Order: sequence, then structure tokens, then C-alpha cells
Amino acid sequence: MKVRLFKPSVGIEELDSIRDSFDSAWLGLGPKVIQFEQQWSRYVGAAESVGVNSCTAALHLALSAFRFPEGKKVLVPALTFASTAMAVLYNRLIPVFVDIDEATLSISLEDLDRKYDKDCVAVMPVHFAGHPAPMDALTAWAKTRGLKVIEDCAHTAGGQYKGKTLGTWGDIGCYSFEEKKCMTTGDGGMISSDDAELLKPLRHSRWIGINKDTWERYEDYQLGHPDANSWYYEINDIGYKYNMNDLMASIGLVQLRKLDLMNRRREEILKQYLTGIGQLETVKPAVPYQLQDSSYWAFVVRVQERQKFLAHMQQQGVATGVHYMPLPMQPLFMKYASETPVASSVWRELVTLPLFTDLTGQEVDYVIESVKQYS
Ligand SMILES: Cc1ncc(COP(=O)(O)O)c(C=O)c1O
Repeated sequence: MKVRLFKPSVGIEELDSIRDSFDSAWLGLGPKVIQFEQQWSRYVGAAESVGVNSCTAALHLALSAFRFPEGKKVLVPALTFASTAMAVLYNRLIPVFVDIDEATLSISLEDLDRKYDKDCVAVMPVHFAGHPAPMDALTAWAKTRGLKVIEDCAHTAGGQYKGKTLGTWGDIGCYSFEEKKCMTTGDGGMISSDDAELLKPLRHSRWIGINKDTWERYEDYQLGHPDANSWYYEINDIGYKYNMNDLMASIGLVQLRKLDLMNRRREEILKQYLTGIGQLETVKPAVPYQLQDSSYWAFVVRVQERQKFLAHMQQQGVATGVHYMPLPMQPLFMKYASETPVASSVWRELVTLPLFTDLTGQEVDYVIESVKQYS
């Protein structure tokens, strides 16, 4: 048997929705993006959302919304994907790497306090593997220091922490709809916030700085507004070609309808994994998976002698991954490195095992048996 690591769960409904966009012959930034943004806002419980072409773009624009002076510092966890810290560099700010909590692998509150100084302006918690960072304590801590909180929700879509959807605890939440994530639009991302005014300029930033997108101008023109002046727009600030398009949104609208079901299926798979390997000595779940109202992107385990384990799983035909080598170990980020001892040691044990909605019970059993053979 061969088992993939990740796989998007898309089918005939998504195809029909794409066909609908083809029929209307409007594929770019248009009505479906607007519809998807509104439905996403309702789903997560935010006042406003802006659709973009990746979570990387979302993180970049989210930070830019605050117009922090160049050279200020942003606190980011050492164990995350490059995009979290890259967004800091895009904004000409300085990443300060914070160690992770040994139990949850998300940003350590103790180390946050140690790394904080008066030049820090924001903190970007990552819900690692989909496991919630302790947002109540973190937002309270940030508030007393006047820091903005931007949640990197690339690993979760619809997961809750203490009854509130992840991404709505901080000032801004950023989501990923890249193909391997909890839901997909091929590539894609979303910026959500309860502060609609804060996100307003980002609609221009994602569209090359233009203050009216083509669809808005087309709508005004169609409605016959006497002052529609459909060709006229203004550019007041630097912008990027970061927009989501209607093809992405047509997939997203269908995926969003399925998201709760897909998350419940992820919970079932995780339950099967935890029952199957929960008691092993040599291979242990990497975070304390709490399945109620969850949206976990990855099943990560801790393994002694990782290389041997990876070779064994490969021989069994089971795909594996490693998320992640800590960012301060990457040449680009080395000059920002600081003491992050937990991330530096724990990452050497991390292995990601297959998790996706369409994984069958039989496949999960096969992965469990393969893991047991190793231990
Ligand atoms: C923690 C984290 N942040 C951001 C991103 C970037 O997401 P995207 O691929 O949508 O740009 C990823 C992608 O895997 C991620 O894992």
C-alpha cells in the first residue's frame, strides 16, 4: 500500500462551481471573491475579510496595515514556516525569534516575556499543526504592552479555542487555502478582522494600490451611475498583485460549505491515530491533540532516531514530512537568531504523518501498523 502525506479533497461540486465562473466569463477579481469574503467573515465571526492569493500575502498585508516605523521588532515563533518571518522582512521590520512551548510547540509565553523590549510592536502566534496557541493569555499579555496580535492560522480553518474561532482572537487573522491545507482554493488566503476600517486600505494594497477594482468600476458602469466614470481610479500608495480571483473563490465557496464536515473527518482520523499509537514508547503525538471543535492540519509525532524512522516508513510506502527546521537555522534568518533551545532540540524528533480528509480508515490502520512495526 502507498499512502500520501496530504491530498486536497475536491470533486464534482467544485468543478461545477468553476464551470459557473467560466459561463459568466469573469475569472478575475469579481463577484465570487466578494461573496466568498462575506461568507468567510460570517463563518469565522469577523466583521470583514479580504481575499488574497496566499497566506504569505495575507501576513505581509496584515502587518502593513499598522504602518509600523521601519526597524521596529516583531515577535515570531522559531518553529514555523518561512512566510511568518518573511512577512516581517517584507515590511522592513526585524523578526525576534521566540522559543516554543515544549508541550504545544506554539510560541512560549515565558520566552515572549523574556524576548520583549520596548521596540517590539507586534506578535505573530502560529497555531502549530492546528493546535491553538493560548490566545486568552497571549492577547492579555500583548494588550498590556500595546502590541498588535496577528494570528497565523495557516494550519487551521474553523478551529476554535475556548468557544471562539482561531483568527478572531487577535487584531487580524490570516488563513491559507493552499492545496494541502484544511480547505483549499488551489492557492489562496484570507485576512479577517473585527476592525473593518483597518482592513479597508488592504483592498487597495492587494490590487496594485488602485482604489477601485475592475469589478467595482464595472458594477457602477452597469448600474448607470452618472458619475461612474468607469475608467477613473486613483493610486495613493504602493500596492501588490495579491488579489484572490473568481476561479479560486468558486472553489472556496464550495469548500467552505464542506469545511465543518471535513474538520469532523479530520477529528475521526486523529482519534483513530491516537487510539492506535497513543501508548507507544518510541513514537508519541507531538502536541496534546484536543479534538472538540478542532481544525488540525497535520498529525505530527515525536520520534527518537528520526532518520531510521523515516527510512522505515518510506520502505512501508508511507509518505512523511518534517515541519519544520527552525527558522533561525536558515541562512537568511541566522543573523536574527537568539536562544531558542526548545525549538533547536525538539524539531529533531518531529515527523509529520499522513492526514487529509479522504484518508480511509484502512489507510490509517496501515500507517498505525507501520508505526508499530518500528517501535
Ligand atoms: C505557518 C504557516 N504560515 C504561512 C504559510 C503560508 O501559506 P501560503 O502557502 O498560503 O502562502 C504556511 C504554509 O504552509 C504556513 O505553514
